[in-house]
Amino acid sequence: MTEDIYERIMEIARRRGFILPAFRIYGGARGFYDYGPLGALLKRKIEEKWREYYVHKEGFMEIEAPNLLISEVFEASGHVEHFIDPMTHCSECGEFFRADHLVEEELGVDAEGMSPEELEDLIREHDLRCPECGGKLAEVTEFNLMFDTNIGPKEGRTGYLRPETAQAIFIQFKDLYRWARQKLPFGVVQIGRAYRNEISPRQGVIRLREFTQAEAEVFLDPEEKEYPGFERYADEVLKFYPIEEQRKEDGEMLEMSVREAVEEGMVSQPIGYFLGLTKRMLNEMGIPDEAIRSRQHLPEERAHYASDCWDVEVKLERFGWVEVVGIADRTDYDLKKHSEHSGENLRAFRELEEPKVIYRPEPVMEELGPKFMSDAPKIAEALRRITAESEDELKGGLTVEVDGEEVEVPQECYEIIKERVTGEWFYPHVIEPSYGIDRILYCVLEHNFDPEEGVFRFPAWLAPIEVGVFPLLKRSDMVEYARRVARMLREEGFTVEYDDSGSIGRRYARADEIGVPYCVTVDHETLEDDTVTIRDRDTTEQVRVEVGKLADVLRGLIDGNLEFEEAGDPV
Ligand code: GAP
Repeated sequence: MTEDIYERIMEIARRRGFILPAFRIYGGARGFYDYGPLGALLKRKIEEKWREYYVHKEGFMEIEAPNLLISEVFEASGHVEHFIDPMTHCSECGEFFRADHLVEEELGVDAEGMSPEELEDLIREHDLRCPECGGKLAEVTEFNLMFDTNIGPKEGRTGYLRPETAQAIFIQFKDLYRWARQKLPFGVVQIGRAYRNEISPRQGVIRLREFTQAEAEVFLDPEEKEYPGFERYADEVLKFYPIEEQRKEDGEMLEMSVREAVEEGMVSQPIGYFLGLTKRMLNEMGIPDEAIRSRQHLPEERAHYASDCWDVEVKLERFGWVEVVGIADRTDYDLKKHSEHSGENLRAFRELEEPKVIYRPEPVMEELGPKFMSDAPKIAEALRRITAESEDELKGGLTVEVDGEEVEVPQECYEIIKERVTGEWFYPHVIEPSYGIDRILYCVLEHNFDPEEGVFRFPAWLAPIEVGVFPLLKRSDMVEYARRVARMLREEGFTVEYDDSGSIGRRYARADEIGVPYCVTVDHETLEDDTVTIRDRDTTEQVRVEVGKLADVLRGLIDGNLEFEEAGDPV
C-alpha cells in the first residue's frame, strides 16, 4: 500500500498547529479550516513573497475593499447568472453532490461544461446511484456558489460575500486609472478572503468554502502587443500543456521557454510573463520544476469572462495536478459590464498619432426623458460611449445595452455630431493572475516534506520559526542566558521559539519536524566566553559564533548570503 503523504502531513499539521479543522468542538464543517500559530506564520510569509513580486517588483497598487459587496456588482459581473455548478442529491440519505464530479468519478468521462440535462441523461442511462448509500439520485439542478445575505436590518438589499477579490478593483477603475496617472499598463492587486459555497468539498484543504485569494488585475491597451519588462521572465523554461496536446490521445507537455511559447503563438506576452513569474515564485518556495506545469483551459471550462486562461498546476501525491494559480485574459468584459450597468465611464484614453474625424450620437434629453423615464440617464451614457467613422453608421436608430438588456433608441433621441479628435476612449483589457494562497500553502508543505525523516525542509526564509533557542541544560544560569538570546533575536526581527523542555536531542527533533532551519544552543562555554552554537537542520552540523555577531550571522544564513561553513568556527 502506498504511504499517504497527505495523511502524514495533515497529522503533523494538526498536532503542531499549522492547519486544523475549524469548529471542531461542534463537529466541524466541510470546507473550513483554521490556521494555527505555525500555519498563520507560514501563510503570512507566502503572502509577503507574493507582495514582494507583485507590489514591490512590479510596482502594482494594492487596495483593500469589503468582503461583502452589494448585489449590483455581481449582477453586472455576471456572477448572479453564471457562477453556478450542477448539483444533485440523494433522495434517501440527503447527501449533496457536484453532478459533473460524480459523473466523472463513476463513468471516467470528462463532464466539464455539460448541461444539467446532459448530466441527468448520463445518470439515468447508467443508473448512477448515491456513492454513500446507493439511493436514487434526484434531478440535476444549477446551484449558485455565492453566499448571500441581507445588508442592514430591513429586508430588500441583498449582499454577497465575494467569490473573487477582483470585482472591487474593476468598480474602482476610474480612480485607480487617475492614480496611475492615466498611463497603461498598470496593475492593481488585492489579497483577502473569498467565499464559495462549494456543493460538496471533499478534498480537504484543497477545496474550501472560505479561502484567501491574491489577485492582480493588469490593465492593458489591447492594441499594444508587447508587455513591458517581458524579458525579465522570458527565459524561464516551463512545461506548457496547451489545448491541442490535451485533446490528443498521446498528448504531452511541451517544455520550452516563455519566449519560445510566445514566438509560437501559444501564449500572449503578458500571459507568458505571469506564467514565468509564477513558476519562479513557486520555485523560491521549494516547489521544484518537475512538479509545476502550465495548462491551458479547454473552452468548455473557461469562466464566463475569459477569452483564454492558463492554470499553473502543482503535482500532489493524493490529488494529482492541482490548480493553484489561474492566469486569465478577461478582455474588456468586466469594465464594459460595469460601465453599462452603472452608467460610469470606465474607459481609458489613447492619444492618436494623427487627429481624425469621428461621428457620435449626442443624446437629446427632451426626447429620451419622456420615452425612457428612469432609464434615460443610463441610455444617454451608453449613447455617449458610441463613436463611428461615418455618419451613416449612426443613422436610423441605435441599439444599446443597459443593465444587460438591449434597448432600441430611435433617431430622434440623439443628434449626430461630427468631431475632430486627437485621441479616443477605449476599454482596457485585463490580464488577471489569480493565486489561491491556501492551495499554495498546502503545496509548500507537501513539497518541502521529507518523508524519510518526517520533517519539513522549508527554505530558511519561509520557515515559520526561523530560529530555535535552547539552553543545553535546564540550569538557571543557562536558562536565563538563553531567554536573553531569544529576546534579543526577536527584537532583531526573527521568528524565534525558546524551548527548554526534555533532552536537547528531543528539542532538536521537535524543531526539525516543523522545519526550523537553525537552532542556537547556550552551553557551558557560552557562560565563559559569550559564544553559542548554531545547528543546521539539514546537515546537523554546528558552528560556534559570538553572541554579539549572532543576529548578523543568522540574517546572512536565512537570506542565503552566507554559507553555513563560513558562519563560524566548526564544532
Ligand atoms: N478571479 C479569478 C478566479 O477567481 P479561480 O480560478 O476561480 O479564478 C483562482 O480562482 C484561484 O483561487 C485558484 O487557482 C485556486 O488556487 C483558488 N481557489 C478557487 N476556488 C477555491 C476553493 N474552493 N478553495 C481553495 N482555493 C480555491
